[in-house]
Amino acid sequence: MLGVAEADSCSKFPVLMSHLRFRCPFAANLLKWVVTFACLLVVCQIPATCLGVDFESDIAPILVRRCLECHGSKDPSGGLNLTSAPGWKRGGESGHDLGWLLERVALGEMPPERKGQSQQLPDDEVGSLREWIISGGEWPAERVLDLYERTSDVRGGRDWWSLQPVRRPEVPHVAGTNHPIDAFIRAKLGDVGMVPAPAVDRRTLIRRLSADLWGLPPTMDEIDSFAESDDPLATEKLIDRLLASPHFGERWARYWLDVVRFAETSGYERDQTKPFAWKYRDWVVDAINADLPYDQSWVDR
Ligand code: HEC
Repeated sequence: MLGVAEADSCSKFPVLMSHLRFRCPFAANLLKWVVTFACLLVVCQIPATCLGVDFESDIAPILVRRCLECHGSKDPSGGLNLTSAPGWKRGGESGHDLGWLLERVALGEMPPERKGQSQQLPDDEVGSLREWIISGGEWPAERVLDLYERTSDVRGGRDWWSLQPVRRPEVPHVAGTNHPIDAFIRAKLGDVGMVPAPAVDRRTLIRRLSADLWGLPPTMDEIDSFAESDDPLATEKLIDRLLASPHFGERWARYWLDVVRFAETSGYERDQTKPFAWKYRDWVVDAINADLPYDQSWVDR
């Protein structure tokens, strides 16, 4: 692999040299050597030093996400174990042929297609592997890769967001917000170039809040008394009232019941009723109204 690259890039130099006439053969030879040496330096050293592929940040993620599923330590495909330095150095059934490894990746043979769909690595990943291999393919001695250290397209890994320790994030500074939640929302909206919808009058506001929290419209009396109230905390009180009502649990239980595919009949082919299904429905409604924590709700179920 390396030999080929050097020969390609250096092969023009002997031609160039033969056109130069030196009176002193020693000077000519010396110059040849200097130029050849410089050429080797350029070809061999750029990838290692200037382009700077780092095993941990550039190579490990590719191997873990794209290769380890089949080239792990137990019964690796093609005998090629890509989890550790010894496996890498030993190579596969065809030996330690890095040129071939690269070729199979570059040709899209590795990873093999899945369900008729090419799994070819994107150009930048092939480029990183190429640079790494050209610069010697150094694998830090102690580093052992593990399939589950990273999330890929087909499986979650330990870097999955919900498995990260809870951290208290810095509240973004956004003008015109006086609640941290608003600041987070405004900051994200700003990131995607959106602005909040304009504030609305109270008659619209109570309709929206009721629809959000209860899924039901407010009565005419409720609308009038909210619209005409001169209490500065009228909105906060309205929200508290909507949250405290059993309708809140009825509304939000619907999403959970959809997730668990709740129904009161079998629904298909033999469409019998499930006479006691409502017990589970009511339990979910009550659990939401009682603010039952998510983990406890699993235990109770
Ligand atoms: C879905 C499974 C799968 C994935 C993912 C996969 N391979 Fe393979 N690989 C195989 C199988 C099976 C073989 C043996 C058959 C063959 O050589 O085609 C193999 C063989 C190879 C060989 C030849 C080994 C030898 O010495 O004969 C190389 C090199 C290789 N894979 C590299 C990779 C690289 C690099 C990746 C990640 C970019 C990768 N493979 C991802 C299944 C996979």
